[in-house]
Amino acid sequence: MYQPHAARRSRLMSQIGDGVALLPTAPEAVRNADCHYPFRPDSHFLYLTGFAEPEAVLLLDGRSGQSILFCRERNPDMEIWDGFRHGPDGAREVFGFDAAFPLSEMAERIPALLTDCSQLWWPLGHDEAFDRRVNGWLGAVRAKARAGARPPAHYGDLRALLDEMRMIKDESEIALLRQAGEISAAGHVAAMRAARPGMHEYQLEAELLRVFVGRGARHQAYESIVAAGANACTLHYVANDARIRDGDLVLIDAGCELRGYAGDITRTFPANGRFSGPQRDVYEIVLAAELAGIAAVQPGALWTAPADAALQVLAQGMLDLGLLQGSVDGVIESGAYRQFYMHGVGHMIGLDVHDVGQRKQHGQWRSYQPGMCTTIEPGLYIRPADNVPAAFHGIGVRIEDDVLVTADGNEVYTAAAPKTIDEIEALMRGE
Ligand code: GLY
Ligand code: MN
Ligand code: MN
Repeated sequence: MYQPHAARRSRLMSQIGDGVALLPTAPEAVRNADCHYPFRPDSHFLYLTGFAEPEAVLLLDGRSGQSILFCRERNPDMEIWDGFRHGPDGAREVFGFDAAFPLSEMAERIPALLTDCSQLWWPLGHDEAFDRRVNGWLGAVRAKARAGARPPAHYGDLRALLDEMRMIKDESEIALLRQAGEISAAGHVAAMRAARPGMHEYQLEAELLRVFVGRGARHQAYESIVAAGANACTLHYVANDARIRDGDLVLIDAGCELRGYAGDITRTFPANGRFSGPQRDVYEIVLAAELAGIAAVQPGALWTAPADAALQVLAQGMLDLGLLQGSVDGVIESGAYRQFYMHGVGHMIGLDVHDVGQRKQHGQWRSYQPGMCTTIEPGLYIRPADNVPAAFHGIGVRIEDDVLVTADGNEVYTAAAPKTIDEIEALMRGE
């Protein structure tokens, strides 16, 4: 049987030599009084373990090749209140660790495991509280120096190794991303179907959530943006409490999180089911830019290729609409286009919606490789201004898909959410 988490632990183990790696899951966070935010494991931790209980710490020992988990013990009294815990024995069996121990044994076992290892890897500087615990464990090793115990002489940032691994998605991650993309697309379709002038933005958010949760994706990958009319020109609009008017475009940027993996889709559609002339003009430009960006996502292409391709189309469009004057090269060179398009064309996506991974390597832009996943999400946001024809005031359009780089091109795995004008109008007519 393919065990993705164990395979990832082995790949990481081969990079830490005879060192030891320590990785805690995320801390729990209080929301108010005695209520917590829903617990979300740390993404690196989830990637290596699949284990979703709070407080756990993973230790990889490069000398013995063992994966060791420290986790909560079973506790029948607490489980009556908070639900099932695997406990160390259950965790070892279900998740395939070589050993697992209760949290209460960390203070003794971790210093012993750090003794005489050459290098310690952990997410250095990421969480002060964990840094202090690591310091404490190292102190316990140093305290035994007279007895011949040696603490590690070298320290490394574990995140750097994991960020690099997570840029290339494995088979099981791709399957989950496709599923998250499919559920997210179904949420957008439901919102388009439900939209009517006079509704509130939050009623469309409810449609998204109904589909996400109803299909087993209990959380949004980020706060949904449901922005009617000029609200679409606020990039991270999340108030979602305005009334939708006849003649408004509605921009929805929303995606579910499925077993840790994010979807991230934006669609923009007319509340009344018919694009007006100016809305159509702006929309066609953004769609052409999105398609040009997607076409540029190719194995071997530079990371910057989609941004360049989309910007050419957007800049030409801004000139055609009379939003800007001059030439494509001129408005790109001067940065004048930023009045209407002020964000990047996309980002890696995976366990985090804005996923890990350095876009430059040794000072050079990286190129796409099969297994990378990126969003492509150009937009035009036309706030009222003296230099802007009134017909375009308050129009905001973004179109966003999630794209997997394949061996011979790409796969848009969020394509089930319609995005041509004809498809959107047909869906909204109930066809
Ligand atoms: N939804 C966040 C983004 O598109 O980057
Ligand atoms: Mn988005
Ligand atoms: Mn995005």
